[in-house]
Amino acid sequence: MAFAFGQVRSRSGLTFTMMGVQAEASRPIIHADNLSKVYAAGRIMVAAVREVSFEVKPGEFVAIVGPSGSGKSTLFYLLGGLTRASEGRVLIDGVDFATLTDAERTRLRRHRIGFVFQKFNLLPTLSAIGNIEIAYKISGRKEPMDRAYLDHLSDLLSIRGRLEHRPSELSGGEQQRVAIARALITRPAIVLADEPTGNLDTKNSDAVLKMLVRSNRELGQTTLMITHNPEAAAIAGRILHMRDGEIHKIESGAGAFGGPNGASQPKAESGISTV
Ligand SMILES: Nc1ncnc2c1ncn2[C@@H]1O[C@H](COP(=O)(O)OP(=O)(O)O)[C@@H](O)[C@H]1O
Ligand SMILES: [Mg+2]
Repeated sequence: MAFAFGQVRSRSGLTFTMMGVQAEASRPIIHADNLSKVYAAGRIMVAAVREVSFEVKPGEFVAIVGPSGSGKSTLFYLLGGLTRASEGRVLIDGVDFATLTDAERTRLRRHRIGFVFQKFNLLPTLSAIGNIEIAYKISGRKEPMDRAYLDHLSDLLSIRGRLEHRPSELSGGEQQRVAIARALITRPAIVLADEPTGNLDTKNSDAVLKMLVRSNRELGQTTLMITHNPEAAAIAGRILHMRDGEIHKIESGAGAFGGPNGASQPKAESGISTV
C-alpha cells in the first residue's frame, strides 16, 4: 500500500491536494469478514447482519441495496466502526477495528472515512457552514479548509444560498445535501453513505449521485453507498443485494468505472493526473 500525496486537477478546473490511495489492486481497503450483529431488544434477539463477507478494492464504487429492515444501516455502522460486531471482523486497510483503542478508532474514522448518515446527524445549534467547518476541523487536516472546493461542492449540491441556515431552517433534502458536503469536504479516502438520496426528489437525487460518482472518480475515493433504490444502486460498479441480514446476490452495475467488477483505477478521461 502506498499513499500518494499530490496535486490533482479535476475536469472542473479546480486543483485539489490529493491524499489518495495507490494500492496494489489486490489489497482491499474494506474487508468485511464473516460479520454478524445481533441486537438484544428485551428478550428478543434480532440478527440484523448475518455472516456477511465481502471485500472492497481501493477506488471501487459499491452499492448495498435491500429493502427496509434488511440490515443495511447496521452494516454501515459496523463498517464505519460505530458499533461492535457480535461476530467477525472489519478491516480497514488491513487494520481490524477491534484491535484499536477507542481513540485510535476515532482517529481512523476522522482521517479516513466520510460518513453520510441516514438521519443526517447535523448539529442543531450550528449553521450548515458551521457543521461543515467543524467536521473539517476535527478531521485533523493541517491545511486550511479549501473554500473554493466548498463553493464547488455547494454549487453542485445546490446549497450555496442555504449555508448560513441552521438545520431546523432547512428542508430534509437540504439537510441531506449539507450532510453530503460535510462528508466530502475532507476528501476522505472512503465515503460511507447511508441512503444519501433517501429524502431527495429526482432532480436532487440525480445531482447527489453524480456528485458521488464524480468524487469517487476524481479523487480516487472508495465509495460505499447504501440504498433501498435499485435505480440509484445501478450507478455503482458492483451491487451487493441484502435480504434478512445476508448478502444474497452480487452483480455488476453500470459502474462508476464501467468495469464488470469495478475497476480500481480512474479512467484516463476523468482528466486527473497526479504529480
Ligand atoms: N438498536 C437496535 N435494537 C434492536 N433492533 C434493531 C436496532 N437497530 C436495528 N434493529 C433491527 O435490525 C434490523 C435491521 O435494521 P437496519 O439495519 O436499520 O435495516 P435497514 O437499514 O436495511 O432498514 C431490523 O429488524 C431492525 O428493526
Ligand atoms: Mg437504514
